[in-house]
Amino acid sequence: MSSVHVEPCHPHFGARVTGFSITDGVSDADFAQILTAFERYSVVVFPDQPMTRETQVRFAERFGELEIAFSRLSEDEVGKRIAYISNVDSDGKIVPPTNKTMLGHKANSLWHTDSTFKPRTALASLLYAEVVPPSGGETEYVSTRVAWQQLPEDRKELIENLWAIHDFNHSRNKIAPGINSPHIQNLTPDQRRPLVRTNPVNGEKSIYIASHAKAIEGMDDDSAQALLAELTEWCTRDEFVYTHQWREGEMVMWDNRATMHRGRGWNDTEHVRKMHRATVIDPEILDANFGDEQVYAESQAALKPVTREIEENATSTGR
Ligand code: OGA
Ligand code: MN
Repeated sequence: MSSVHVEPCHPHFGARVTGFSITDGVSDADFAQILTAFERYSVVVFPDQPMTRETQVRFAERFGELEIAFSRLSEDEVGKRIAYISNVDSDGKIVPPTNKTMLGHKANSLWHTDSTFKPRTALASLLYAEVVPPSGGETEYVSTRVAWQQLPEDRKELIENLWAIHDFNHSRNKIAPGINSPHIQNLTPDQRRPLVRTNPVNGEKSIYIASHAKAIEGMDDDSAQALLAELTEWCTRDEFVYTHQWREGEMVMWDNRATMHRGRGWNDTEHVRKMHRATVIDPEILDANFGDEQVYAESQAALKPVTREIEENATSTGR
C-alpha cells in the first residue's frame, strides 16, 4: 500500500506530492507512485522535506545515474553530484553581481531545460531550497508537452522531424559575451537534438528547445531564429506558466524532456538564496554520434577540465 498523495497545482501540469518522508526513507511502493506522478505531471513539488545533501543525492539516484555538476558544491562523492546555485561564497558572504558565478546564474533566467548542450542530456532535475529570500527568487515552469498538444497541425508537421543545434556558449553569450573562455568553448561542442521528443513510457510528445538552441539543421539562420523565438513564445504564454514560490526545506523535481523553466530575480545584493540541484542523466541517447560508447567516454573525459575551469573561475572571483 502506498500513502502517496498527488494534488495537481496548475490546470495543465505540475503536482504537489505528499504523504512520505524522503529523510525517513521512501518505500518501493511509494517510489513507484512518485515516478508515476513525475511521468504524468512533469513537475512534482515535494513540500516540507528538509534533508541533507547526502539524502538528496541518494533519493535522486533512485531515478538513475547522476551528472557530475559543473559548478559543484564540493569534490567529495556527494558534493560533486550537487550543482550549487547561490549568491554567497563559502564564508556565507554575498558575492557581487559581476562575479562570474552570478552571471552564470543570470543565464538561468532565460527559458531553458537543463543539460541539452551536454553529450548526455538530463532526464530530471531535483532542486532543493536551502535558503530562500523573503521575496522574489521564484522558479517558473512550463510544459512543452501541453505546448505540443495545442500546437496547430501545420506547425507540428513543420517541426516534427527537425534537429536543433544546442551550444552552452550561445546561452552564456546572451548574458555576458565572452564569459566562457576559449578553452571552455572548445570543450563544449555543438550537440544535435531533435526539436520534438517522444516520452518512451507514455508516448507523449513534447517540444524540446532551450536557451542553448542556436540553430536548426538545414534552415538559414534568420528563419531558424524566428522559428525558435516563435516556439519559445508559444510554450511560455502566461496561462501555461506555473510559478513556484519557494519555501526552505522544499524540493521540486522536473522532467527536462517535457518542460522549460527559468529563475526569477530577487534582491540579490541584500538577501541570500542557496539552492542545491541533483541532475539525473537521461538513459535515452539523442544523437547517433554519441551512441558510440567510446565517443561518449572521450567526450566525458574532455569535459572534466571544463568543470575544473568553471570551479576556478568561481573560486577566484569569490565563491
Ligand atoms: C536550475 C535552474 C533556476 C532557479 O537549477 O537548473 O535553472 O530558480 N534554477 O534557481
Ligand atoms: Mn536550469
